[in-house]
Amino acid sequence: MPSMRETCPEKVEDILRRFPQRKSASIPLLYLAWEVYGYVSPEAMEEIAEILGTSPADVEGIASFYTMFPLKPLGKHHIEVCTNISCHLVGAQPLMSHLENRLGIKSGERTEDGRFSLQSVECLAACAWAPCLHVNGKEYQKVTAENVDELLNSLD
Ligand code: FES
Repeated sequence: MPSMRETCPEKVEDILRRFPQRKSASIPLLYLAWEVYGYVSPEAMEEIAEILGTSPADVEGIASFYTMFPLKPLGKHHIEVCTNISCHLVGAQPLMSHLENRLGIKSGERTEDGRFSLQSVECLAACAWAPCLHVNGKEYQKVTAENVDELLNSLD
């Protein structure tokens, strides 16, 4: 697989230009790796370490600290279910259980066919419309175990 420096050298250079302290470019480069590879692979972390002149362990420490960086390949439809307090109080757990049963996977996993991945996440800042979830970043509100099948059926 071509590296980020081969795929989009101008983006790598632009990031490095904006951060005179090389290590400060870690997070933008992790976002770029996610964009290029679809997740932050071990190979991407090695490449970032090489670019920054640091160790892969340093980069992995940053990538694994922030839960938003996917360290495994995601499904075509990545479902993030908020299980924080406001959503929890109005049915996030039954919603999560329903999705796990329907998809046959647990939070943090991907279906064998690669169509879906599922992740329990912290507050998505839509507490007034709880329970809510994101599919590939698009927000769905007042989603319940009772009405989520309609949403799943609408996804190709
Ligand atoms: S607690 Fe679920 S959106 Fe805030």
